[in-house]
Amino acid sequence: MHGDFQTRSEMLRRKLRQCHILRFKFLLVLIFTIGTWSLIRTHQKPSYLHHEHLELSDETPDSNINCSKILEGDPEEIQKVKLELLTVSFRKRPKLTANDYINKTTDCASFIKRRKYIMEPLSKEEAEFPIAYSIVVHHKIDMLERLLRAIYAPQNYYCIHVDKKSPESFLAAVKGIASCFGNIFIASQLESVVYASWSRVQADLNCMKDLYRRGANWKYLINLCGMDFPIKTNQEIIEKLKALKGENSLETEKMPSNKEVRWKKHHEVIDGKVKNMGIDKQHPPLNTPIFSGSAYFVVSRRFVEYVLENTNILAFIEWAKDTYSPDEYLWATLQRIPEVPGAVSASNKYDVSDMNALARFVKWHYFEGDVSKGAPYPPCSGIHIRSVCVFGVGDLNWMLRKHHFFANKFDTDIDPFAIQCLDEYLRDKALYQLRH
Ligand SMILES: *[C@@H]1O[C@H](CO)[C@@H](O)[C@H](O)[C@H]1NC(C)=O
Ligand SMILES: *[C@@H]1O[C@H](CO)[C@@H](O)[C@H](O)[C@H]1NC(C)=O
Repeated sequence: MHGDFQTRSEMLRRKLRQCHILRFKFLLVLIFTIGTWSLIRTHQKPSYLHHEHLELSDETPDSNINCSKILEGDPEEIQKVKLELLTVSFRKRPKLTANDYINKTTDCASFIKRRKYIMEPLSKEEAEFPIAYSIVVHHKIDMLERLLRAIYAPQNYYCIHVDKKSPESFLAAVKGIASCFGNIFIASQLESVVYASWSRVQADLNCMKDLYRRGANWKYLINLCGMDFPIKTNQEIIEKLKALKGENSLETEKMPSNKEVRWKKHHEVIDGKVKNMGIDKQHPPLNTPIFSGSAYFVVSRRFVEYVLENTNILAFIEWAKDTYSPDEYLWATLQRIPEVPGAVSASNKYDVSDMNALARFVKWHYFEGDVSKGAPYPPCSGIHIRSVCVFGVGDLNWMLRKHHFFANKFDTDIDPFAIQCLDEYLRDKALYQLRH
């Protein structure tokens, strides 16, 4: 009895020990499996991002233009585009209207898929560095949508200011597009934007306020208009923004004396035009001089906060409202006020030209020329509108070697191939970066 009990308890102990070993082995296998699985998971990109369907090169299957050659600056291929643009079939090609976008955006899932929007951050770095955009537009819905798609990332914020004078169908189309994305919205306050008037600045300020309230985590604000297009990927923009270390980047230079009349005289909008009323204005309520620049900026969140809340800045903004083209000196001047976050010294040694600022690449007719003889950029390959180059495919090769985030102006009616090739190039670059 006793011995029997001993052997039985011995067997039991052995069994238990075996059981422990088995359980230990099982645990090991389990840990290993989970470990491997999570390793694979973290190294695996969202599966749909592997799909070639995000590449844009198959969007124009009937086009016989080779974008690789265009981007290399191949003169024959550029000439081929110029001839293509002159053909009847090109000029009679069907164009997407506001109603098309209203129709297409009634089914958001299909719109997003067909238009190949990238719906997940392409990297952790990008996810953690959201950018806010203020986009001021009044027409050309197809241009706006291409711009939006090119800069769209789910972590960013997009405020669109639609001109009050725009056709109802245009506003409805923008609303349709915005309704498909949680991070694209229309400004809560819309202005009727008059060329060279205060309303142009107010439109950006309206978006600034909305964006500031809407997202607490975005790092920089970039403003755009409907004829801008990026020449950098979101990742490249982030890298350059980080390198700014809180500083802003915009054109800000000594004010030419012939432009002083713009803010020394009282102006009013009469019949949709800004008129000099011949009345002297008070001196601006600032210690810093007025600087000259452009409507475009790249500014930090702290800059935005300061501009929206500081009483001295608000007084300056109030003072600027009856001047000519305040967009071309307001941001440039704020950037030189010592207390403003990310500003630089008012000393002229800190002047930043449009070519040195990151915000925008623009070709002005009167500066174009032979770069080897000192011109800042080669001649425009498209056409000029109010002395500004509307880019053609021949402008891309040189432009892409510049550090700017965006270039102005592009127009699908002037040269859609320039936009198409740029679009394809940036998308490939973003997806290529993803795979490496
Ligand atoms: C476009 O041109 C490049 C050379 O720049 C060539 O390698 C490529 O095969 C061409 N693509 C097509 C579709 O012809
Ligand atoms: C959109 O357009 C298609 C094709 O013209 C039409 O069949 C469809 O009914 C339209 N949808 C809406 C919501 O208007």
